[in-house]
Amino acid sequence: MNHEPDILGFACNWCGYAGADGAGQAKLQYPTSIRIIRVMCLGRVDPSFVLSAFERGYDGVALIGCHIGDCHYLSGNVNAQTVVEHLRGILDTMGLGRERLRMEEVSSREGPRFAELVRTFKDQLVAMGPSPLKKGKVELAEEGDRP
Ligand code: FES
Repeated sequence: MNHEPDILGFACNWCGYAGADGAGQAKLQYPTSIRIIRVMCLGRVDPSFVLSAFERGYDGVALIGCHIGDCHYLSGNVNAQTVVEHLRGILDTMGLGRERLRMEEVSSREGPRFAELVRTFKDQLVAMGPSPLKKGKVELAEEGDRP
């Protein structure tokens, strides 16, 4: 039986998030299983954010931002690439699989590219099956309720 993967996307304000917005405005179909967190730049995504998402049971995490060379903060996406490569190694070591973490370049005018990458990532995660950490999933909404 297919499972509906839970995907967390970190999208930079200037490109990735604008691309998602463009996909929505163009009424392009893409899986609703992605939750998007807007950040000013992918360089703002701390490694602990990504590991926390997996700990909470997300099946996949995507960092979606400016094309290399177009980062509004010059090198934020290049720095994020380095972080993502390290994290992918950790995911392999943990037995989750590096494929569960992606970094994608989407400009503000690339709504179709955004929709396509969400579709292909979802299909890939369906093929991989649920995250082994799925049982530990905690809804983000509950976070504020905890002491
Ligand atoms: Fe988009 Fe840095 S502003 S990745």
